[in-house]
Amino acid sequence: MTAWPSVPLHDGRVLPALGLGTYPLADHEAREAVRGAIGIGYRLIDTAANYGNEIGVGRGIADAGVPREEIVLTTKLPGRDHGYEETLASFEESRERLGVEYVDLYLIHWPNPRVGKYVDSWRAMIKLRDEGRIRSIGVSNFTDDHLDQLERETGEMPVVNQIELHPFFPQARMRAADRDRRVVTQSWSPLGRAKDVFDQPEIATAAEAHDVTPAQVVLRWHHQLGVVAIPKSASPERQRSNAAIFGFELTEAEMDAIDGLERGRMGGDPEEHEEF
Ligand SMILES: NC(=O)c1ccc[n+]([C@@H]2O[C@H](COP(=O)([O-])OP(=O)(O)OC[C@H]3O[C@@H](n4cnc5c(N)ncnc54)[C@H](OP(=O)(O)O)[C@@H]3O)[C@@H](O)[C@H]2O)c1
Repeated sequence: MTAWPSVPLHDGRVLPALGLGTYPLADHEAREAVRGAIGIGYRLIDTAANYGNEIGVGRGIADAGVPREEIVLTTKLPGRDHGYEETLASFEESRERLGVEYVDLYLIHWPNPRVGKYVDSWRAMIKLRDEGRIRSIGVSNFTDDHLDQLERETGEMPVVNQIELHPFFPQARMRAADRDRRVVTQSWSPLGRAKDVFDQPEIATAAEAHDVTPAQVVLRWHHQLGVVAIPKSASPERQRSNAAIFGFELTEAEMDAIDGLERGRMGGDPEEHEEF
């Protein structure tokens, strides 16, 4: 496999250009999936307090036996813990479950705008980052208004915004909004949960033309958009093939054809969705 590229963050750190999602794996499944993925070459691992598998993810990282500093471990603050003190406590619980001294990337899982406390959480995350317990701080499911509010009130723009993004929901507007703010976009459900995305003729045709799988076409499309996909797979074969996307290139026409598959989101609307 060609070497894995990485993407620069505006805090001076870097992010591997592809990661492993772990929802909805239980602890024992996550442990196995993470250990195997690291063996294949994955260095970016995505979990969340709300996935209930931080213990398994942490053990998988320990089992893999690669130097800790090579791994970019992401976890997320649940909505029930928004608020300054609550965030400090919630982070510590996640860190203990993961069994690590520091977390590389900590994200606010959802903005929960009706609760209105994500700025307080953000201040706590800045403190944790400044103390060295978190390397980089970011958000998930934030709109441009939410991002701007964080910067206006704290002077700190997130380095990452993890959002729903796949061929049925390409998020052109939000990708541009992130880019304008030097925020790296990460794609959740990058394969559209492997439902009918793969059956689209535009994807099947490109797969045939490059002698790759539909999943590889979709993940390569993310890479060429400049976003970081975190496909979940518990299967070693699919983990391996999902990572083999750095040795071919989609044409502009193929990229445009996939952009044209837009249907709408599968998950919640950040302005409305409440995640606790
Ligand atoms: N921030 C957020 O709000 C948020 C929301 C949702 C998800 N996420 C994160 O994003 C990650 C990815 O999203 P997701 O899990 O919803 O969806 P996804 O990665 O688009 O799809 C996962 C599904 O695709 C299957 N799959 C993976 N590779 C495949 C391949 N090459 N061919 C066929 N099927 C394949 C997996 O099954 P197998 O395991 O059997 O391969 C699994 O059923 C999550 O795991 C989680 O870490 C974040």
